[in-house]
Amino acid sequence: MTAVTARARRPASRPRHLLSSADLGPDGQERVLALAAALRRGRHAGRAPGHGLEGRMVAMLFEKPSLRTRVTFDAGITALGGHAIYLGPDEVGIGRRETATDVARNLVRWVDAIVFRTFAHTTLVELAEASSVPVINALSDLEHPCQALADMLTLAGRLGSLRGRRLAFIGDGNNVCHSLLLAGSNAGLRLSVATPPGYEPSPIVVRDALELARRSGGSVEIGTDPRAAVAGADAVYTDTWTSMGAEAEADLRRIRFAGYRVDAALLAGAPDALVMHCLPAHRGEEISDEALDGPTSVVLDQAENRLYVQQALLLDLLEAS
Ligand code: CP
Ligand code: NVA
Repeated sequence: MTAVTARARRPASRPRHLLSSADLGPDGQERVLALAAALRRGRHAGRAPGHGLEGRMVAMLFEKPSLRTRVTFDAGITALGGHAIYLGPDEVGIGRRETATDVARNLVRWVDAIVFRTFAHTTLVELAEASSVPVINALSDLEHPCQALADMLTLAGRLGSLRGRRLAFIGDGNNVCHSLLLAGSNAGLRLSVATPPGYEPSPIVVRDALELARRSGGSVEIGTDPRAAVAGADAVYTDTWTSMGAEAEADLRRIRFAGYRVDAALLAGAPDALVMHCLPAHRGEEISDEALDGPTSVVLDQAENRLYVQQALLLDLLEAS
């Protein structure tokens, strides 16, 4: 009954699930980021965040390891009066013990939202299609939208308005890159991506990001030259060369990505640029110690901001704010 009422009141920009950074749209993204910024201000001022998730149960289904995502969801939900139930890689056995559809059909009988970290994005879509409660992508092989929201909050905290600001992403055209392209284009960023040949972001994601950028006044450039991408950037972002699930390719990737390390030499092209990384970092591979720990690094702000954007997202999706 509650869910039906909530759906009837849902504005056009409020999606049912957050599977992709494109799902919120520019207005929804701005709304969630504004609420997240208020939650951050409140916590920094020592104020309690209220009980917007009082009595709400959230299942956190993780098929891969996590530090930031798990802790920030759990802590954020608890702080708002809700309860998080963690189900780790060995517990549910999606696709082995039960299908994603059957897992969703059971979970919705007990919980108000599902946070899901998985391998194939198609598994996430299958679970979401069978779920009558909001499903949040906590990372799939295609996207990492919670991370991109935290990244937008971090950039806005440091740079103010994001419109026309330049963000360079160097490395693998992976899930983090995809969500940055979409969330950044929603926000009007000018995005330059440099990957080794063969590791470009998905052409479908790039097409969608270009369309969002056309509407927001942002831009998207995809290339293979890290120096060209970084020149004049306000922020330089990188992520692991080998994502979870691709470990068998790690040695080959170390060779192919060798010219794509974010270090002092590369950052000489944008000396004041903020240095960003979703973490975990592989020091000495995609990023040098000097860059990761340097004075313009905002990686721990990104990690902290996961807390506020996910609280805001849950409040928004559950319309409890
Ligand atoms: N950035 C991020 O999602 O970190 P975890 O894998 O530790 O959750
Ligand atoms: N691209 C990385 C991000 C980890 C937070 C992965 O998928 O493993």
